[in-house]
Amino acid sequence: MKEALFKVGGLVEPPYFVGREAELERLCNDARDLTQSNLILAPRRFGKSSLLHNIKKQLQDEEQLLIPYVNCREITSYADFHRVTVAALLSEYESKTRVAGLLEAFRFVLKERVLRAVQRVEEIGGSLSEVGRVYLRFREQEVEDTELARAAFRFFRSFAEEKSVRVVFLLDEFQEVAGFNGFLFNLFKKELDEVPNVRYFFSGSSMRMLSSIFLREDAPLYLMVSRHYMEPLRENTVADFVRQRLAIAGLAITNPAVQLLHALTGGIPYYIQKLGVLVVQSAFLRSTTKITVSQVRDGFDAMLEELDSEFEVRWFARFSNQQRTIVKTLAQLGEARMKDIAAEMRVQRYDISSAVNRLRDMMILATKSDGSYYVIDCVFAAWLNKP
Ligand SMILES: Nc1ncnc2c1ncn2[C@@H]1O[C@H](COP(=O)(O)OP(=O)(O)O)[C@@H](O)[C@H]1O
Ligand SMILES: [Mg+2]
Repeated sequence: MKEALFKVGGLVEPPYFVGREAELERLCNDARDLTQSNLILAPRRFGKSSLLHNIKKQLQDEEQLLIPYVNCREITSYADFHRVTVAALLSEYESKTRVAGLLEAFRFVLKERVLRAVQRVEEIGGSLSEVGRVYLRFREQEVEDTELARAAFRFFRSFAEEKSVRVVFLLDEFQEVAGFNGFLFNLFKKELDEVPNVRYFFSGSSMRMLSSIFLREDAPLYLMVSRHYMEPLRENTVADFVRQRLAIAGLAITNPAVQLLHALTGGIPYYIQKLGVLVVQSAFLRSTTKITVSQVRDGFDAMLEELDSEFEVRWFARFSNQQRTIVKTLAQLGEARMKDIAAEMRVQRYDISSAVNRLRDMMILATKSDGSYYVIDCVFAAWLNKP
């Protein structure tokens, strides 16, 4: 099979994963030494999940270090929290140590009829027995579901001690649990304070959802984790990556074309890979081996067309009328200060300031150092600007 030149969607590893060396090194060090917990913030498609995946991959040979991965989209209740996190830890332990049977025993306790489950719980012993017992009491309605969350944290702690391992939980899409009440986050706070051998790397794509947990002064986890904002990929990183991938198929790209590719995608990893695919298609159609600006433009048009229905859903589902007007206006202006956006909309600055702030917290808009605003997803902005 021929090697794919680009990979669009899903987790990517080298050689498809580029340009995150500095953050990988820092985060891997933090994970290896359990230095601190981290919050990784970036809009969707910036490569958060892939970054988490590569942390795990780089540290896979590290002794006594477990890095369970949890997608918080799977968590809508305390019972889910308990089931998903405990299972992730067990599964990571089993794959690292090649010890089998723990996860299966845990699943058995969750599913089987109570009498058999009780028996199994007693057989397992240790911390897993403890956490299983709490689950059975919950099943018998002897304890509240919040007790499950407490038991899960107790389990992380005692399992780590029992097996002499360090644990770094990767909690992807953490904004999905933002709707939980303070109880869960207060538990996290307690753990961050007290437990030396378990750390958490949270990742999320909405500051609005995460600010009530981490960012506001009155938030339960305020200043408890180190924050990390992921940037788009730099032009030279993108240029090197695209050139290397194209070379595999005997293709080259001109300087202006690769600069344009970077500019049109804004350095957002997902779009770089997607545009890469489309540009290659365009080159093959024209039977050329040197990609020029015009193939990049063709590819970009094709990309907007492919993303059309997705952008349309996003446009109508996620924004209020006023937010739509603001985003559309800013997409046209490219870059503008609040007062200029307001002037263009023929309203007062204070009419839009709270909506603009909210859009910034949603990571739709961002500010430059000179205070002007721009639409972060420049491909989405280009779609809005289409005639
Ligand atoms: N470091 C990277 N280098 C190149 N491409 C990347 C990188 N990170 C992500 N991508 C591309 O972006 C896509 C989305 O990445 P993902 O990690 O799922 O982003 P997120 O979790 O932020 O939405 C990947 O499938 C891949 O095509
Ligand atoms: Mg993701």
